[in-house]
Amino acid sequence: MEIRKVGVVGCGLMGAGIVETCARAGYQVTVREVNQELLDRGLARIQRSMERGVKKTKLLAEDRDAAWARIHGTTDIKDLAGCDLVIEAIIENMELKKKVFRELDELLAPHVIIASNTSSLCITEMASVTKRGDKVLGMHFFNPVPVMPLLEFVRTILTSDETMATAREFGASLGKTMVTAKDTPGFIVNLLLIPYILDAVRMVENELATREDIDTAIKLGLNHPMGPLTLLDFVGLDTCLFIADAMFDEFKDPKYAAPPLLRRMVLAGYLGRKSGKGFYDYSK
Ligand code: 3HC
Repeated sequence: MEIRKVGVVGCGLMGAGIVETCARAGYQVTVREVNQELLDRGLARIQRSMERGVKKTKLLAEDRDAAWARIHGTTDIKDLAGCDLVIEAIIENMELKKKVFRELDELLAPHVIIASNTSSLCITEMASVTKRGDKVLGMHFFNPVPVMPLLEFVRTILTSDETMATAREFGASLGKTMVTAKDTPGFIVNLLLIPYILDAVRMVENELATREDIDTAIKLGLNHPMGPLTLLDFVGLDTCLFIADAMFDEFKDPKYAAPPLLRRMVLAGYLGRKSGKGFYDYSK
């Protein structure tokens, strides 16, 4: 099946990155946000990111302009009607995701694939509200989407071979390297990442070392681009807590239980970079 027009639902951090990546790969992209203010904010984020790509000499100015011309913003989900593939990237709320999946299922031609960028929620549950379970899968991108080379597929027991083949072709056209996981919370990357991040928070909680020393140890001792606490601030404390809770809920294994400090920091509004403060201060 040929994909020419891609729809993206949600233009937050991940949605915007997905839109940019698809437009830069040559696809026509229609992105839907719930209101004009959020849409404008998401589109401005895409412009800033492409500007950065030009400054870093990763993107030619003319390619930026051509990619920008392929992006169409809307607040009306009906404008996704002609798309060949739709990627959902809204907030991590199962009821809202199911509402979007129901609407898309009504709206889209029967052959169209619907993917979710969820980091932890059950893809089978989203597929269950549609009449096209064989055409539903997880497409989990990584932040920052235009830079991170991985695309993690989540295949449910309903997803067909044909859908997987089309998804692989699409992922390759974006220049991503793909891996495939079963539909269990955390998939591959977060199943390993979240317990590691939770342990780093426990280290701070137990005063085993300072946050700077924990991050320096991992950066320089394991050659990671970011230490776990910097990465936690980057991903968002609320996001990590949400994923940890989803994993604990499913597996009931204490290794996925969020430490009290993480929950309290989220309650206090210390969400990381996005709120200006997490384990580090970004307000200046
Ligand atoms: N388009 C294209 N390329 C770009 C770009 C853009 N908009 N912006 C930056 N780049 C390129 C740069 O040119 C550079 O390439 P080079 O290495 O060839 O020179 C590279 O991307 C890195 O960019 P910068 O030099 O600007 O920035 P840093 O070197 O400080 O790296 C970082 C920033 C890429 C964020 C790096 O710190 C990193 O990889 N951190 C870890 C990120 C990570 O782990 N993300 C996954 C989080 S988990 C997740 O998302 C899943 C969810 O479910 C939780």
